[in-house]
Amino acid sequence: MPQLEKRFEVEPRNFVRAGEASLRVQRTLRDIGFGEHIIRRASVCAYEAEMNIVMYGGKGEIVLTVDPDEIILQINDDGPGIEDIEAALQEGFSTASAEYREMGFGAGMGLPNIKRNADFLDIRSGRNKGVRLKIVFHSKGKQQ
Ligand SMILES: Nc1ncnc2c1ncn2[C@@H]1O[C@H](COP(=O)(O)OP(=O)(O)OP(=O)(O)O)[C@@H](O)[C@H]1O
Ligand SMILES: [Mg+2]
Repeated sequence: MPQLEKRFEVEPRNFVRAGEASLRVQRTLRDIGFGEHIIRRASVCAYEAEMNIVMYGGKGEIVLTVDPDEIILQINDDGPGIEDIEAALQEGFSTASAEYREMGFGAGMGLPNIKRNADFLDIRSGRNKGVRLKIVFHSKGKQQ
């Protein structure tokens, strides 16, 4: 049985609340007592995935599960989805609009960054199928 499960909503196109869900993930992990390194890795992944939902996705959520030896982030949205996942994982690939680029997004580094920071990443998507990310971090106690 999971030790803890928390669910945080992510609202597409809401730039006022953008970053709130990943901040809550970070605070929850800090309250539990995880080490800074694993908290930073999980927070980066949560933030990048949250911003992708805000910019490209549909109604979404971050589900945080903390087991004895792992932190699991399941980040889902019901938006238009990603047609070519391999392409989207390449550094520099982005469909960001000029407006998003002016805001400082669109380097095409979000998904590669998630992959780099995660111990395990599974992406399920397709045209009009939304996006489901499963991101796992091995924690072995709480000291990493
Ligand atoms: N939740 C999502 N729904 C639909 N498309 C997505 C979603 N997440 C990512 N994508 C697509 O994958 C591309 C790559 O995402 P990635 O996060 O790597 O880069 P980016 O968001 O474009 O730029 P950056 O993250 O560096 O600001 C996006 O440009 C978008 O086309
Ligand atoms: Mg991104």
